[in-house]
Amino acid sequence: MTGQGRLPALDGLVAVVTGAAGTVGAGIAGEFARAGAQVVVHHHTGAERARNVVERITGEGGTAWAVAADLTDETACERLMDAAAARFGRVDALVNNAGVQPVQELASMTAADWRAVVDTNLISAFCCTKAAVQVMRRAGTGGTVTHVASIEGSSPAPGHAHYAASKAALIQHARAAAVEYGPSGIRVNTVSPGLISRPGIEEAWPEGVERYRAAAPLGRIGSPADIGRACVFLASTMADWVTGHDLVVDGGVTARSPW
Ligand SMILES: NC(=O)c1ccc[n+]([C@@H]2O[C@H](COP(=O)([O-])OP(=O)(O)OC[C@H]3O[C@@H](n4cnc5c(N)ncnc54)[C@H](OP(=O)(O)O)[C@@H]3O)[C@@H](O)[C@H]2O)c1
Repeated sequence: MTGQGRLPALDGLVAVVTGAAGTVGAGIAGEFARAGAQVVVHHHTGAERARNVVERITGEGGTAWAVAADLTDETACERLMDAAAARFGRVDALVNNAGVQPVQELASMTAADWRAVVDTNLISAFCCTKAAVQVMRRAGTGGTVTHVASIEGSSPAPGHAHYAASKAALIQHARAAAVEYGPSGIRVNTVSPGLISRPGIEEAWPEGVERYRAAAPLGRIGSPADIGRACVFLASTMADWVTGHDLVVDGGVTARSPW
């Protein structure tokens, strides 16, 4: 059975989901809307995909609005949060999901390759969090920030050194931010997904999908909605006393001893 139950209520909350035109981000945006949140669907190059996400949400009776920004630009992160606050009056929840996952051997990586991954996966989350916290503190109502990290933050795959390092740092950023922002009523956590389904993955990488299925105690790869529901939980009052936590959502893969 996969999560068909009721979601924790986020009625009326304003949620910004970065990278929401992508596979996982679209699932997160959809679950926030199903929980009752008004959703800012951030995208970078995917304007048409973002429009489809907004249409799907509004078609189901939800509220969504698409905004473009290159999150490697600090000013653009500030503009994104200000735009969300101007449109909906506040920002209650931020999900830092945008990221890149290039595969490259460590020996052939340049410092520029490393910076490109860290800029997109880590520094963008720092800048978006800082900008969202300013909006939340102005409103004085608290809020939540959830970073989408990865199980590779603790168990790197080959060809992913820069990616794994960026995700490990994201988990530590959340813990540090939880310490500093807690007194303002702002909770900061991470969700660390395992392998998530995307259109065509079974055909493009059948042996990888099969290996994951065989290793996962729950016997399947994840869906974008699995990650969305974990993010909804962390943004909800059900997680009121949860901060600085890394919630692993991987079907149990990392629970198994590797030897
Ligand atoms: N898929 C998995 O199995 C998996 C597993 C663990 C963790 N994750 C994490 O989940 C998150 C989403 O991954 P995904 O699989 O959904 O990948 P995806 O489909 O490629 O989505 C990532 C999104 O990030 C956005 N993005 C990239 N560079 C950006 C920039 N400079 N500024 C703003 N936005 C930018 C892109 O926006 P545009 O398309 O609009 O350009 C893209 O839609 C990532 O953080 C990834 O590391 C994924």
